[in-house]
Amino acid sequence: MRVAIAFALLAACAVGQRRGGAPPAATGPWSNSALTPDQRADLLLRAMTLEEKLQLVHGLARGDPAAARSNGGAGFVPGIPRLGIPDLQMADAAVGVTRGAARGRYATLLPSTLALASSWDLKAAYDYGALIGRELRDQGYNMSLGGGVDLAREPRNGRNFEYMGEDPELAGWMDGEAVRGLQAQGVMGDVKHYAFNDQENGRNVLNVVLPDRRAMRESDLLAFEIAIKDAHPAAVMCAYNQVNGAYSCENPYLLNQVLKKDIGFQGFVISDWGATHSTVKAALAGLDLEMPGDTYFGAPLAQAIAEGSVPMARLDDMVHRILRSEFAAGQFDGRRTDQVPDIFSGLATARKIAGESIVVLRDSNTVLPLDAGRIKSVAIIGGHADVGVLSGGGSAQVNPPGGNAVAELSPPPAGGRSRGGPSYFPSSPMRAIAAAAPAAAVRYSDGVDLAAAAALAHSAAVAIVFCTQPMSEGRDAPGLALPDNQDALVEAVAAANPRTIVVLETGGAVAMRWFGQVAGVLEAWYPGIGGGEAIADVLFGRVNPSAKTAVTFPARDADLPHPTEFHGAVAPGSGRGRGAARSFDVPYDAGLEVGYKWYDAKGITPTVPFGFGISYTHFAYGNLKATLDAGGIEIRFTLKNTGRRAGSEIAEVYTALPPEAGEPPKRLIGWQRVELAPGEARDIQVEIPARRLAIFDVSRDDWRTLSGTYLIEVGTSSRELALKAALPLQGSQLP
Ligand code: BGC
Repeated sequence: MRVAIAFALLAACAVGQRRGGAPPAATGPWSNSALTPDQRADLLLRAMTLEEKLQLVHGLARGDPAAARSNGGAGFVPGIPRLGIPDLQMADAAVGVTRGAARGRYATLLPSTLALASSWDLKAAYDYGALIGRELRDQGYNMSLGGGVDLAREPRNGRNFEYMGEDPELAGWMDGEAVRGLQAQGVMGDVKHYAFNDQENGRNVLNVVLPDRRAMRESDLLAFEIAIKDAHPAAVMCAYNQVNGAYSCENPYLLNQVLKKDIGFQGFVISDWGATHSTVKAALAGLDLEMPGDTYFGAPLAQAIAEGSVPMARLDDMVHRILRSEFAAGQFDGRRTDQVPDIFSGLATARKIAGESIVVLRDSNTVLPLDAGRIKSVAIIGGHADVGVLSGGGSAQVNPPGGNAVAELSPPPAGGRSRGGPSYFPSSPMRAIAAAAPAAAVRYSDGVDLAAAAALAHSAAVAIVFCTQPMSEGRDAPGLALPDNQDALVEAVAAANPRTIVVLETGGAVAMRWFGQVAGVLEAWYPGIGGGEAIADVLFGRVNPSAKTAVTFPARDADLPHPTEFHGAVAPGSGRGRGAARSFDVPYDAGLEVGYKWYDAKGITPTVPFGFGISYTHFAYGNLKATLDAGGIEIRFTLKNTGRRAGSEIAEVYTALPPEAGEPPKRLIGWQRVELAPGEARDIQVEIPARRLAIFDVSRDDWRTLSGTYLIEVGTSSRELALKAALPLQGSQLP
C-alpha cells in the first residue's frame, strides 16, 4: 500500500513537472509573489542541496530518465520536483515555433526577422514576439531560443534572415521589442548569439579579430546592449565562435565585463548547443548553463567545486540567475494550460507584418501598383510561386503545414532541424494574384527553361519573376548573386517583356546585375505563412508599401569589406564541423564601418542603400529644427503626404558627429513611422537620447559625448536626406 501511494505521488510529481505547464506542487517562503525575483531566488537557493544546484546548470545528462518529460524542443533542463522548480522546456522559435511536425502541431510561420526589421515598426516587433510567446505557451514550452541580433555585416551569412539588419540601433530596438512581447506571455526569452557570430562558415572554430573595443561596443555589442536593456531577457546565448582569441562562452571580456558588469544583465548565460569548451575557464568567465548536455558542467564542475577551482559563490550565482529569470517570468506562479494555437489570428498577424515588411526597391514608370481591373494577363515565372513561399532553414526552420508545399523537395526530418532541401509554405503567390485580378489570365512557367519562360512573358501584359535564395544555419552563400541561374532567367524575361517585375524571396541582400533592366523589384524576404497574399497585396496596391531595407544591397562582391568570405581550413558548407577543422582568423578590419557606414566612408554606391523603400504615394519634408533638451536632443520637422493615396512614411534621422570623433560619415539616431492621409501634413517630433550621440571612449572604458558641431540629417533613406541642420553641442550639456 505504502509503495502504491509513493508511486502515485511520484507519478503526480511527474505529471506536475510535465511540459512546463502545471504550477509547482511544492511551496516554500519563495512562493510569496510579493517578493522580488531576486529575493525569491535567494530563498529558494538556500533550500537547495549541492547536487540540486549542480543539476540546474546543464542540459540533460545521458541516460537521465527525466528525458521522458521533454516536450520535444531543442533543449530540456529537468527541474526539481521536491522544490517545485519547473522543467525548462526550450524551443527554437526565431520566426515561429519549430519542430511541430514530430508531434503534429501547427505553428505560425512569421516573416523572417530581417523582414520584420524592414518594417521599422516597434509595435509590429512586439506583436511578432507576443505571437510566438503565445504559441510556445500553448504548446507547453516555457522558454524560447530566438532573439537573434548579430549584425548583418556579412551579407552572405546564412543566418541573416534570423537577425535584424546591419544597424545597431534599429536591430537592438526591434529585437528588444520582439523579446519584450514574447516575455509578456509568461515565456522566458533569450537574445543570441553573443557575440559576433556573423558568418556560418567555420563558425565553430573561427576567431573574430577585433581588438578595438570601441568598434566592438559601437557595433554588434551595441545592438545586444540595447535589446537587453529594453527586454531584460531571461537568457543570453553565447556563440560558437571565438572573439579575440577566446571562445564566446569562455570569454571574460564579453561575459563578465561587458554583459554582466557594464550592461548589467541579470539573467543567465546559456551556451549555444555544444559551444562550451571548458569547465573552470567557462565558469569563471561567466557561463551559467551548458547546453544541451553535461560534458563540462556535469561531473567536471562538481569536481571543480570540490577542489575549489570554481568557488561555491560562482555556482550559487549561476543558479540564482537561472531561478531569478524563472521567477521573473512567472514560472512559479499561476496555472497554464496547453491549447491549440489560434491559427486565424496568427495568419492575420503574419500577413499584416509581411505587408509592412515587403520593400519596393524599384518602380520604373510607375509600373506599380498593378491595376487589378485592367490587367488582362499575367505571366508568373519561377520560385515555385505556383504553390508557395520559401522559408529559412536550420534550427529556425518551422515545419510547413501539410508538409513541404514543393513536394519534390525533401521534407525536413521529423523532430529535427532541417537538413533537407528548402521548405516552402503553402501560401501561393500565384493563387493570391489570380484572386486579386479575377479577370486576368494567369499562367505559370517554372523558369527552368529560359526560352519557355521568355515566350510566356512575351505573351502576357506583365511578367512577374519570383527569385528565391534558400539560406540556412550552418552555411553561407558562396557570393551575392542569386543561385541557380536565376540572374539569366530575369534577363531573359526582361528582354521579352518591358513590364517585368521581380519578386525576391531571399535571406538577405543579393546582387542584382539586372536591376536597371526590369520595371519593378519587390523584396519579400521570407514572407511567412501569409506571404503569397501579402505579395499580392503590395503588387496590386491593397497595401501601400512602407518598408525600408534594414540592410544595404551592394552592387557586387568586390564592394564588400572582404570580397571573398574567410574560410580558413574549413570548406564552405562545413560550418557545423565542430573540432574538425583548425581555427582561422576573420579580421574585422572595417572597424566602425559596418553596413552602410562602410559604403558611406568609401564612397561606394550600392544598388539599394540602407533605409530605402518606395511608397505608392509621395512625402515632402520641411522645417527641420534640432534643439537641446533635458534627455538629449529634440528633432522637429514637418512631413506631408503630397500624393493621392494614404501611406506610411518611415522618417529617418541620422547624425554626422564632429570630425574629431573619427566616426563614419553618419549614423542612424532615430526614426518615426508616420501614417498620413492624402494631402495631410503633420509636425513630427523625435526624441534622441544623448547616448545615441556618444562614442565609446576606450581610455575611460565608457560612453562619452564629444563637444562640437553635429550635423543632423532627416529624410527618406540613408542616401536621401532632404533636411539638414547644424547643432553645436558641449559634451557637458548632455546627460
Ligand atoms: C543554433 C542555436 C539554436 C541551437 C538549438 C544551434 O545550432 O546555433 O541558434 O538555438 O542550435 O537548436
